[in-house]
Amino acid sequence: MQTVGWWTRPTGFLDRCRRRFGKKFTVRLAAQDPFIVLSDPEELKQVFTAPPDVLHPGEGTRILEPIVGPNSILLLDEGAHMSQRKLVLPAFHGERMRGLEEMVAEVAREQIRSWPRGESVPIHPRMQSLTLEVILAAVFGLRSGPRLDQLRVALTGMLDFGMSPLSLLPPARRAPFGRGPWARFLEIRARADELIYSEIRERRDQGDGGGSEIINSLVAARHEDGSPMTDVEIHDELMTLLVAGHETTATQLAWALERLTRAPAVLSRLVEAVDDGDGDPYMTAVIRESLRLRPVLLNAAPRTVKKPIEVGGVLYEPRVHLLPSAWLVQHDPEIYPEPYAFRPERFLESDPGTYTWIPFGGGRRRCVGASFAQMEMAIVLRELLRVSEVSAGVEGPEATVRRAITVTPARGGETVLTAR
Ligand code: HEM
Repeated sequence: MQTVGWWTRPTGFLDRCRRRFGKKFTVRLAAQDPFIVLSDPEELKQVFTAPPDVLHPGEGTRILEPIVGPNSILLLDEGAHMSQRKLVLPAFHGERMRGLEEMVAEVAREQIRSWPRGESVPIHPRMQSLTLEVILAAVFGLRSGPRLDQLRVALTGMLDFGMSPLSLLPPARRAPFGRGPWARFLEIRARADELIYSEIRERRDQGDGGGSEIINSLVAARHEDGSPMTDVEIHDELMTLLVAGHETTATQLAWALERLTRAPAVLSRLVEAVDDGDGDPYMTAVIRESLRLRPVLLNAAPRTVKKPIEVGGVLYEPRVHLLPSAWLVQHDPEIYPEPYAFRPERFLESDPGTYTWIPFGGGRRRCVGASFAQMEMAIVLRELLRVSEVSAGVEGPEATVRRAITVTPARGGETVLTAR
């Protein structure tokens, strides 16, 4: 019953558990180790700040290895994780990010121009193609041409596989009959790898060149001993950013519109702010509030206990998995009065708290793309609201459904766009 609840009513199931058991409880799903859901801010703080050898978030994400490769910061723990993370972080520093803003706006304008007007369409697939173009441009600096076309096809194929239930099987059971989806996946991956490795080699030959693209930052990055990253390391981190940065942002944008179109007062205040050219404070609050109310990842990565750790007065032994719940802490009425209401004003008065607003997780694993994602969301919403009126395509709120590890609007965010 827990497995059915977890998969079919992801948020309702969590709410019900909290009503019954309080802020922490154990969930047992079929064919998985049990895990403990945590949502008390003090306990979240203890988990996010635990020493790297005590909790291992990397273990729970191993399932992604075929897609991202073994050096991905998503999969590593302890020293290996921190040294890869230090190589990746400079790509997201302020100046490089500002260098990407105009590109994001251009891609957004191009894509939005082609969206249908005057009829109800699911916005999610459109946001997916928009964020895919953005991440390809941010990572490789590619805006058009045959290599971009080939990369787009190869990546879409790999990501589709990542979204299918097959990808959740252990490797040994993926290809029982030789050919099939797994073999096809390996073919697509080989094509993607070829393209990515040629990009890396060309950048190395050209040097950093001063562009804001993420690949340039990785080519220029140095390990602590002064050596450059290997081609394989760069490849794995680039794949990680492509995978982590595309679907999440698209779905979060779809949710933002789904919520905005159900909250006329919020929407008109936002449109006014955008028209006045003074969109920033209210836009920022809208984005933070949509990440609070509809976090696309309901929880941070599960942390596997490696050494006994006391959290909230309970001693957890090795092999237990701790799951920081963004959904629950962000819907806690003691922290957010009227937690189910869409009220960006709450973030005009104060910034989100480190352990009460965790759509990007926390501690040394916090999402490296958090600022990039919020920048992208703000630009896309701004460009959209400038040229079109938006309204809901169906009555009432859209239900929350699980899609691999994300939760999406059940009807893809049915939206009607009308030219302004
Ligand atoms: C709205 C969009 C996004 C959301 C909601 C989101 C959310 C998250 C969450 C919850 C984690 C796990 C953190 C933890 O367990 O403590 C994470 C990790 C990560 N995210 Fe994001 N993310 C988004 C966009 C992006 C983008 C745009 C990029 C890159 C371009 C990115 C790259 C990563 C990476 C590399 C990690 C792993 C960090 C590590 O293990 O050290 N994400 N993200």
